Amino acid sequence: MRAHEAGALHGDLGTREPAWLRTPDDVNALVPQLWSRTVTRADTGDLTVGGVSVRTLAAEHGTPAYVLDEDDLRARCRDFAAAFAGADVYYAGKSFLCKAVVKIIHEEGLFLDVCTGGELAVALAAGFPAERMGFHGNNKSMAELSRAVEAGVGRIIVDSLDEIDRLTSLANETGKRPSVLLRVTVGVEAHTHEFIATAHEDQKFGFSLAGGAAFVAAAKIIDEGVLDLKGLHSHIGSQIFDTSGFEVAARRVLELQAQIRDARGIELPELDLGGGFGIAYTTQDDPSTPGDLAKRINKIVDSECELADLRVPRLSIEPGRAIVGPSVFTLYEVGTVKDVDGIRTYVSVDGGMSDNIRTALYDASYSATVAGRRSSAEPLLARVVGKHCESGDIVVKDEFLPADVQPGDLLAVPGTGAYCRSMASNYNHVPRPPVVAVRDGASRVIVRRETEEDLLTLDVG
Ligand SMILES: Cc1ncc(COP(=O)(O)O)c(C=O)c1O
Repeated sequence: MRAHEAGALHGDLGTREPAWLRTPDDVNALVPQLWSRTVTRADTGDLTVGGVSVRTLAAEHGTPAYVLDEDDLRARCRDFAAAFAGADVYYAGKSFLCKAVVKIIHEEGLFLDVCTGGELAVALAAGFPAERMGFHGNNKSMAELSRAVEAGVGRIIVDSLDEIDRLTSLANETGKRPSVLLRVTVGVEAHTHEFIATAHEDQKFGFSLAGGAAFVAAAKIIDEGVLDLKGLHSHIGSQIFDTSGFEVAARRVLELQAQIRDARGIELPELDLGGGFGIAYTTQDDPSTPGDLAKRINKIVDSECELADLRVPRLSIEPGRAIVGPSVFTLYEVGTVKDVDGIRTYVSVDGGMSDNIRTALYDASYSATVAGRRSSAEPLLARVVGKHCESGDIVVKDEFLPADVQPGDLLAVPGTGAYCRSMASNYNHVPRPPVVAVRDGASRVIVRRETEEDLLTLDVG
């Protein structure tokens, strides 16, 4: 019997078993909120996505692979665009960017947020119109700013006095007048992991509201008159479920808006409230729909504007995770299954922290299912780990898998569209997996698998 077999060892699990994790009635069942919309389990037992079975995908493309449900991604873009009609929805490219996704984002009518010269290059290479891009970053180089200005990027989100000076000198040199938003730190402690909460005071992004730096920076831009200050920007963090953080942020930013109006007689026409909307990684997560988010955010902006006697600015948001996160699952193959007697069972897959660093980095929780077959075995509480030389190389901390999970099984981990491929590394010289888009019964590689030759090409020593 394996350690942590459900029922048998529950008493021994002590605090190791998370309180929220309940023994499933059926290990084959798919909880819909965790999976992209075209994923089903076929009668044969294997998962299908976009009408293609994971066994076919594994045979054609190998494992590990990120599998993108294209219809789901397009539907999420449309849902956000429809819910936030009248606002500009910027897809946050840092969550996952490649040319095919840029094209999808454009076809679905979204704007695009990039935050480095590299992301800008991908977007431009895919033909995304520069005027529909926002350019972020706390340390944009002169070369990056120059490329953005030259390309005609629609909004540059300025983040420091140094950047304002750099951009001002570029504007003077080129005779252009870049449109900018001012990134403001609103002092909201978003209820999320410390490393992805970005609006508390002690951090590198933005200008502090409370300390007065935000007003000073806005006044500087307005008084110098070289840059076109369109509005204020706030991003309070990521994987946030409680919308009250956005409400506080909107209130504080609009207070600054009113202060600028009173001091300089200018009502800034735009307001960007950033991204950060949470998604379901486990059955415990209960994200809001885009419709609910839009209702609550619009309501608070309207009422705060009324209070401060401000015209309602044009709103933008920048969701990344909530658009691409749920559209992708990672398909792995199980290599070894090891019982550590009386402690737990480790199921090792052919990827790990190099294709999904979030578990190690943020203590993130994920779910998993055996994807290539149906099982009638009892549930077994297991830990899914990778193949790297690191004991923290965990993909899924705790999940009930069928007790007959074995080498050669396909395993799917949902919700890996955001911050997995984009944060992937070559740790241990493991080549990064491909991204395979599936739609209407066909699959296509949109980012090819890295090879050992690719890695050696860089090694010119
Ligand atoms: C400025 C900005 N906007 C948008 C996002 C996207 O956040 P999310 O993917 O959580 O929606 C981020 C993420 O770090 C960000 O820094």
